Amino acid sequence: MTRTVYVNGEYLPEDEAKVSIFDRAFLMADGVYEVTSVLGGKLIDFAGHAKRLERSLNELDIKKPAVFDDLLEIHRELVRVNDIEDGLVYLQITRGAPGDRDFVFPDPETTEPTVVLFTQNKPGLADSPAAKTGMKIISIEDVRWGRRDIKTVQLLYPSMGKMMAKKAGADDAWMVQDGHVTEGTSNNAYIIKGNTIITRALSNDILHGITRAAVLRFAREAQMQVEERNFTIDEAKEADEAFITSASAFVMPVIEIDGVALGDGVPGARTARLREIYLDESRKAAI
Ligand code: PDD
Repeated sequence: MTRTVYVNGEYLPEDEAKVSIFDRAFLMADGVYEVTSVLGGKLIDFAGHAKRLERSLNELDIKKPAVFDDLLEIHRELVRVNDIEDGLVYLQITRGAPGDRDFVFPDPETTEPTVVLFTQNKPGLADSPAAKTGMKIISIEDVRWGRRDIKTVQLLYPSMGKMMAKKAGADDAWMVQDGHVTEGTSNNAYIIKGNTIITRALSNDILHGITRAAVLRFAREAQMQVEERNFTIDEAKEADEAFITSASAFVMPVIEIDGVALGDGVPGARTARLREIYLDESRKAAI
């Protein structure tokens, strides 16, 4: 089945979808994105993603596209026509294609934002084997720009980080700035000591994860303590458990950091419980 995608008001077969070579995202990574998961044909936390998208656009002074209020319908239509039971909807909004290359932003009166959405079919997304085996993490220096709270499409360093992890025989990398973990290449990072979850506080240094917000809320409701503070890789190596969160991984256990096994070297019970609560509650609230 050919995938149907959405580009600037049109639903098209993927091989007919086109954007300009002058698009600001192509030339300057001048665009923002969101990834929303789909479980059982329904969207997980769409409202959270839409809110963060609006914030990303505002922070970069990218005009809100006219279709902004129709995004839920577009997501649903793509899920429907592509017959997605479990998977992801990727959305990207760029500053548009002014018809030439210039560092100066184009006039928003004459250059419309580019809006692209497509689905990724991932049968059994919530039953990933990594949830049972756990992930191995390496640490790398965080050399990204200073506005990681904005979900931009500048993903070269995170992509390089994944490759560094792969080369080292690991699954992902946690990035470290001034000795403290910021986040994973495409996820937020947590450690657990006793009954306490520790994760870096929100700031411009990390993406304000939609999954993070939900998981910390559920953790507090389940009487776990939450400490939003910096932690080091050395502290992480001594932790009882560790995990990551993102819209595509949900809650995923970490069992090894820089070659050091955490706890018993298997996914922890608290992480497994958080994953279960997150998936149950998210499925219930899915739209
Ligand atoms: N990445 N931190 C970074 C750097 C991320 O790229 C992501 C998400 C997160 C988690 O955010 P959320 O819980 O809202 O998905 C944290 C997405 C999934 C991606 O790039 O594919």
